[in-house]
Amino acid sequence: MSESYKLDLTRRPRRMRRTASLRALACETEVLPQHLIQPVFVIDGECAPEPIGSMPGVSRLSIPDLIEECRELQALGISGVALFPKLEDRLKSDDGREALNPDTLVLRAIRAIKTAVPELTVITDLALDPYTVHGHDGLWDAGAQDLANDATVEVLAEMAVLAAEAGVDMVAPSDMMDGRVGAIRSALDGNGFEKTAIMAYSAKFASAFYGPFRDAVGSASSAGTHHLDKRTYQLNPANRREALVEVALDEEEGADVLMVKPAGPYLDIIREVREETELPLAAYQVSGEYAQIMAAAERGWLDLERCRDESLLAIRRAGADMILTYFAKAYAEKLHS
Ligand code: PBG
Repeated sequence: MSESYKLDLTRRPRRMRRTASLRALACETEVLPQHLIQPVFVIDGECAPEPIGSMPGVSRLSIPDLIEECRELQALGISGVALFPKLEDRLKSDDGREALNPDTLVLRAIRAIKTAVPELTVITDLALDPYTVHGHDGLWDAGAQDLANDATVEVLAEMAVLAAEAGVDMVAPSDMMDGRVGAIRSALDGNGFEKTAIMAYSAKFASAFYGPFRDAVGSASSAGTHHLDKRTYQLNPANRREALVEVALDEEEGADVLMVKPAGPYLDIIREVREETELPLAAYQVSGEYAQIMAAAERGWLDLERCRDESLLAIRRAGADMILTYFAKAYAEKLHS
């Protein structure tokens, strides 16, 4: 502790951390509302919002409430919403045929948002999980042991055209079938929708962090199984080279935006994809990443705002241009307060 003890240092990195304004000048990464996309759950009818137990602060909304929410998100500077329908059980079937009903819930929601809040980017998932009784993202093959790749892609391409007709800005295939991005691109182009963009869930891992989402859309409970095994189509969490192969294929097939999902536990993948491609890159901070921060904060174990902000900053620092996050609205509200 003596005053006379002096290191002979030329470089003292702490000099640039001394004051708030020096730290601001040296700051390398920022998270703005414009970088964020709010995932939203939509339900049919004129009912009250339905809170989702495993996602405190998130509710399923009727279309009128969703419109109100979209107005608020737009006013806060959030760039987009990603829509997820929660269907009544009676509309679910083995082949998910409700997905191709031209008046299905999600298509009505797209039309309503694009009419009321046209500047807000609307993204819709392409996958069959909200529509199937088993909760899988596609159609069973003959033996009902695995998903039928090409038959599923045919349905996804039709869903894409319906969503484009409804006015969606981007379709987001989240199914992980082979060849779907190319098939969706040609279906869109063939029907005059060359302006509709594709945000490809390119490196989507078979993650346990999707649990709360499956409560939200009822894709777990309807099958009676809480841990749906999607490992024949989603990526093995152990594999990074395989993720890069998927990303390269989606780029070749015409994706406009690539995505890594989940985000926080896969920051290494985000960084690698960022270095492999020049396309815009999205990362999805999924339901389980949200739930773990919320749960720990509720117990007083973590500071909600600081952990939320740090989690988003880390995803941007890893190289994501845009983030799908259930924190989008709360984050923007804090910036404006
Ligand atoms: C469905 C889909 C899932 C998510 C987005 N789209 C779940 C799944 O693959 O089972 C998860 C999102 C989240 O956990 O927040 N294709």
